[in-house]
Amino acid sequence: MNWLRALFFPLKAMLLAKVCVRLRDKPMGNSPSGIDILLLALAWGNLGYAAGLSYLRHVGGHAIRSKGAVLECGSGATTLLVGALTRDRGRQFIVLEHNKTWYDYLRKILDYLEFSHITLLHTPLVDYDGYRWYLIPQGLVVDKISLVICDGPPSSNPGGRYGLLPTMMEHLGEKCVILMDDTHRRAEQHIIDAWTECRCLKANRIGRFGTHAEVVFC
Ligand SMILES: C[S@@+](CC[C@H](N)C(=O)[O-])C[C@H]1O[C@@H](n2cnc3c(N)ncnc32)[C@H](O)[C@@H]1O
Repeated sequence: MNWLRALFFPLKAMLLAKVCVRLRDKPMGNSPSGIDILLLALAWGNLGYAAGLSYLRHVGGHAIRSKGAVLECGSGATTLLVGALTRDRGRQFIVLEHNKTWYDYLRKILDYLEFSHITLLHTPLVDYDGYRWYLIPQGLVVDKISLVICDGPPSSNPGGRYGLLPTMMEHLGEKCVILMDDTHRRAEQHIIDAWTECRCLKANRIGRFGTHAEVVFC
């Protein structure tokens, strides 16, 4: 953790705890409001990396409506949002993070928030057949996944986020929804196009300028 992050950690952790309690205590089935999302985004900060308000709201709505396991590729504000909304709901929430420094920071925040229901894994990127993706630990037991938040690995790695479908296909339920941020970028659009060669799917770009997308199987 760099010194600035360490300095502000107690304040940030306390603010996040308050926002997460607010999110967790919503009546069953209620999606987070615009104010909930704004408070989370302000408490989290991390400008330049964190998801925007519209995408966060979208992720929150799906986390409430979906029923099975949740997989997240790349951790951040969405981890806290989904973590708060799935707490005490008996759902598996697996988060893959390749960056060890970032993983350590997230681990510290999740420990402070007592989010022990989140399986946050440090999963370095390794070579697969023509792309790089997270190294999935052997023996990881994964329930049928109904929601994926696909925001990693970074596009600077060969294949970027492409590896999700070929690597995790057998774990994705028939009605699984894949949410992807940054789909105004060509790289993310190409990934969705490439996925159609693995599996028949429909992608719906949403948000102003189509900045995020919802992908479902046909
Ligand atoms: C684009 S971020 C988005 C993650 C998440 N969906 C969110 O809402 O914040 C995904 C990746 O960026 C990297 N990352 C996020 N914040 C970072 C930071 N402040 N410094 C370095 N890397 C960061 C992490 O490795 C993470 O897996």
